[in-house]
Amino acid sequence: MALRKIVLEGDEILKKKARDVAEINERILTLLDDMWETLEENNGVGLAAPQVGVLRRVAVIDTGKDEESDDVRIELINPRIVESDGEAEADEACLSIPGMVGAVTRPARVKAEALNRNGETFTIEGEGLLAKALCHEIDHLDGILFVDRASSVRSMDDDDEEEE
Ligand code: NI
Repeated sequence: MALRKIVLEGDEILKKKARDVAEINERILTLLDDMWETLEENNGVGLAAPQVGVLRRVAVIDTGKDEESDDVRIELINPRIVESDGEAEADEACLSIPGMVGAVTRPARVKAEALNRNGETFTIEGEGLLAKALCHEIDHLDGILFVDRASSVRSMDDDDEEEE
């Protein structure tokens, strides 16, 4: 495994739509392993492949750092939201936009479908942090950042919010 460099806001790659993974080969498995390591190192909740410079529809999520959420660790290949309902506004942050936070309105509950690393389709349903993370990471795969959706964005120095 290896740490990958996180691409920061301003880099055009973050605005591009990522391509579906056609074949889960060694490169994709290494990418997933590296993304886990990079997520851990940066103490994040989620990471999408474009954030490490790879335009593929791959993301990882780990909600375990939030004490109020269930500990869910998932790898998502070619994920898509298949159901959503409700509305919830919550603060978001992003490893590609260090130090910034902003309130974003997302569905309160979402159901996503994706492939795991064995190429099997699975569904995952989440509320709260997990719903937010699923939407945030899938947005990354479509070239959308939370600041594109936030009603306002502020510096983390201005409050006690923790980085996600
Ligand atoms: Ni992000």
